Amino acid sequence: MSWLITGGSGQLALCLTDSLTREGQAFTSLSKRELDISTTDSVSKIVGQSPRIIVNCAAYTAVDKAESKPDSAQTVNTLGAKNVAIAAKELGVPLIHISTDYVFSGESSIPWQINSPTQPRTTYGKTKLSGEREINNIYPEGTFILRTAWLYSRYGTNFAKSILRKAITSGDALKVVNDQIGQPTLASELADQIFYLSKSQANPGTYHVTNGGEASWYEFAREIFLLSGHDPSRVNPISSSEYESVAHRPKYSVLDNSVWDSKGLPRMSDWEDALNRAIPEIRDQVEREAHNG
Ligand SMILES: NC(=O)c1ccc[n+]([C@@H]2O[C@H](COP(=O)([O-])OP(=O)(O)OC[C@H]3O[C@@H](n4cnc5c(N)ncnc54)[C@H](OP(=O)(O)O)[C@@H]3O)[C@@H](O)[C@H]2O)c1
Repeated sequence: MSWLITGGSGQLALCLTDSLTREGQAFTSLSKRELDISTTDSVSKIVGQSPRIIVNCAAYTAVDKAESKPDSAQTVNTLGAKNVAIAAKELGVPLIHISTDYVFSGESSIPWQINSPTQPRTTYGKTKLSGEREINNIYPEGTFILRTAWLYSRYGTNFAKSILRKAITSGDALKVVNDQIGQPTLASELADQIFYLSKSQANPGTYHVTNGGEASWYEFAREIFLLSGHDPSRVNPISSSEYESVAHRPKYSVLDNSVWDSKGLPRMSDWEDALNRAIPEIRDQVEREAHNG
């Protein structure tokens, strides 16, 4: 009887397997090739594993691409989430499902509460919100929906790695959007929180879980330069209107984490502290990848 993790090749899943290994937990982590959550037989495959807890890290996360491939995003983020919930309910085991700040419109200047009205502006956000709704229809009594934001880690492709790669491999200046505000969140710290959640007395429901504080992408990029010993004046602010992107990103998507904090779960670090801790391992990884071409 162990943990079952879906989307096993993704950055959060990889961080979670690190956390569970450290904690001496038994787990099975299945990549998309091993378990495609959008297929009907995924339910019986999950049930056949007899896990004691399921974490759904699988998602269609290509925010811009989703605008031209809404069906692909829907299949994974909505139908896939539904399949995982059906399996968890059949087994009667807790399901931890990961969702996103993109379920909100971004039109605010104060942090989003769990019950703030949702109004996603992107296809990705819409399909993730429908996933939440499917799960809440099927298995609310056993599901923890964790909304998080701006994940980065040493794994996969993410903003922190892309900026660090630019800092290391060229001397060029770069322009970064300064009018979208969110919470850079270290995926490995979120993974630790998922483990703590499994040991806690917290009730199923929806939670916001991110690193503390807030920043624009520009401030995040500047801090990456600064902490990795590169000249932060190479990073220049621009507005969203000067940066072409297919999907309309939220302007302000800071999540209020107070409900999470009130459950006696460890408080997440402020984003600058988390980044400071993570920079050495992310830098090592980026250097390795640059060296290997
Ligand atoms: N990244 C962020 O900034 C962010 C922010 C807020 C919330 N989240 C949420 O956090 C969770 C983890 O995100 P992440 O950053 O770890 O994303 P990620 O690195 O893109 O990982 C997602 C994983 O899901 C897999 N996958 C896609 N379709 C699948 C399917 N049909 N069946 C099984 N697996 C499938 C992907 O495989 P392939 O790569 O082979 O397609 C990938 O390995 C997701 O729910 C995401 O929506 C992420």
